[in-house]
Amino acid sequence: MAQINSQLKTVNPGWKKLKKLNTIPIDLERIALIRGKDTDYLCDPTNIESLILELGLNDEGLEEFPESLHNSCGQGLRIWQYPVQFSKYLVDVAKLKIDSYLEIGIRHGGTFVTTVEYLNKFNPLKYAIGIDIIPCLSLLEYEKINPTAKFVKINTQSSDYKEWLKTYDKFDLVLIDSFHEEKQCRNEFISVKEQANIIAFHDIANINYPGVKKVWEEVKNIDEYDCREYIAQYKDIEFSYMGIGLAVRKERL
Ligand SMILES: C[S@@+](CC[C@H](N)C(=O)[O-])C[C@H]1O[C@@H](n2cnc3c(N)ncnc32)[C@H](O)[C@@H]1O
Repeated sequence: MAQINSQLKTVNPGWKKLKKLNTIPIDLERIALIRGKDTDYLCDPTNIESLILELGLNDEGLEEFPESLHNSCGQGLRIWQYPVQFSKYLVDVAKLKIDSYLEIGIRHGGTFVTTVEYLNKFNPLKYAIGIDIIPCLSLLEYEKINPTAKFVKINTQSSDYKEWLKTYDKFDLVLIDSFHEEKQCRNEFISVKEQANIIAFHDIANINYPGVKKVWEEVKNIDEYDCREYIAQYKDIEFSYMGIGLAVRKERL
């Protein structure tokens, strides 16, 4: 852990904000809440918004979550997303019949597991990979429940990562949600650009992460992509947080 801490300090002083860097086990039994629903139910963003609350939210950066959501924080899958944004994003990406997924920066694994389980209801994923610089034991447990899912502990700023990426031809959908600083975010985008059909960015509307917004604005100006945004906010929160940008290759639509 000391080695990971020092690696993170050099790449991101912002991580000091986190209560602790080690991951917290997530309640994988909540997957049943997704598996038990039919696709008619899962197509409706309002249903998904409620379902995400039942699945459970993360409680790091609690000040970014409105009080109305606090009962769902710190439990279940510890999804680090705004339900009002993530629900609409999931419904839209499911329509694209995703067949493979890469999440860059998984933290406790909640968004990864939710995305994989949700997309599987619409089109079985051939493979789904979550990567992080910090070990995630819950994802090793999840691999046993879902053999198409895999966790890889790797630093996206390393040469090992570049070599590792070469072992995959393509990723249908990639979510970039790691260190929210401009240079790393842009590096991660460039690293997967040629291999990915669809690239999502988290925190494009977060007041604390102007670097992510800057990279997202650059992506929106690339003619190859059709871009959508999921940036709805909660009324009782003063500033703008989170926000998902989705860049879909035009030929993939
Ligand atoms: C905001 S959290 C991810 C949240 C997760 N996607 C979710 O929605 O629940 C960011 C994660 O990125 C990881 N990270 C930061 N820099 C990284 C790097 N250079 N390589 C790999 N992972 C990194 C951190 O360890 C952390 O777990």
